Amino acid sequence: MQKTVQKPNKRLFGQTAIITGANSGIGAAIAQGIGMEGANVIINYISNPEAAEEIAHNICNDDICGRAIPFKADVSKEDQVQAMFEFAIKEFGTVDIVVPNAGIQIDYPLHEMPMSAWQKVMDVNLTGHFLCAREGLKEFIRRGLKPEISRSLGKIIHISSVHEVIPWAGHANYAASKGAIVMLMQSIAQEYAPMKVRANSIAPGAIRTPINKEAWDTPEALEKLNHLIPYKRIGEPSDIGSAAVWLASDESEYINGTTIFIDGAMTCYPGFTTNG
Ligand code: BGC
Repeated sequence: MQKTVQKPNKRLFGQTAIITGANSGIGAAIAQGIGMEGANVIINYISNPEAAEEIAHNICNDDICGRAIPFKADVSKEDQVQAMFEFAIKEFGTVDIVVPNAGIQIDYPLHEMPMSAWQKVMDVNLTGHFLCAREGLKEFIRRGLKPEISRSLGKIIHISSVHEVIPWAGHANYAASKGAIVMLMQSIAQEYAPMKVRANSIAPGAIRTPINKEAWDTPEALEKLNHLIPYKRIGEPSDIGSAAVWLASDESEYINGTTIFIDGAMTCYPGFTTNG
C-alpha cells in the first residue's frame, strides 16, 4: 500500500509571512504565532537587532515550524521595503501573508506639533503600510493562487489601533494615521477581493508593549488605564498574536475588508458606564 505523506497539522504550513516591527511587542507576538503555525517569517526591525535575533531563534526552526529570519528595513523607505520583499522571495520562494505592524507615536498638542513629528508618524504608520501592501500585492499576483497552500491569493493584516475610531487629544498625528489605515485597507479589499486577496485590520486597544509603558508600569497607572477598559485588564501581545494567526489562516477565509477590535470593549464608550 502506498504511504501518504501527511501535511503537518499546522494552519499556516508552507506559507511565508513578513511582519514589520516584529522585534518587540505586538509584532513579536504575531511573528511567534505565525511561525509556530508552520509559516516562514521575516522578522522586520529597524533598531535592536539582538531582539530580532532572539525572537527569530525562539520560533522553532525546523521543517515543520518554518524558518524565521530577521531583516532590517525602514518601512517608510521604498527601496528598503522592496529589498525586504526581494529577500523573502529569494529565500522562501514567495510571500503569502503581509503584516504591516510597525508604528510609532510622537505626541504633541496639535498647535505645537512640529512638521517633523507629523511627517515621521505618517511615514511609518501610513506610508509603511502602503509600501508593504503594494509589494505584497505585486507578489501575490505574480505567484498566482495555490489552493493547496491557501484558498486566498494572499492576506494583508494591517495592525491599526482603537484610535482608528477613538479620537485622541494630544495624539492627532497618530490617530489620523490610524484612521487612514481603514480606508487604505478597505480600498485594497474592494480592489483585490475579486482576485482572492484578503485585506483586514486588527485594531488593538491598550496592550502591554513598550509604546505605552507609562500607562501600565505602575499599579496607579494600571488602575487609571482600567477605567478605559470595561473588561478590566490590559491586553497582552498574545491576545493580538492569536487573532492574527486566525486571520491569516483559511479558517477566516470569508472575512475581508473589515477591522477586528481587540480591546476589552474599550471602543464601547466606557465613560458612559455610570453616566449619560
Ligand atoms: C496606542 C497605545 C494606547 C492604546 C489605547 C494604542 O494604539 O499605541 O499607546 O495605550 O492605543 O489608547
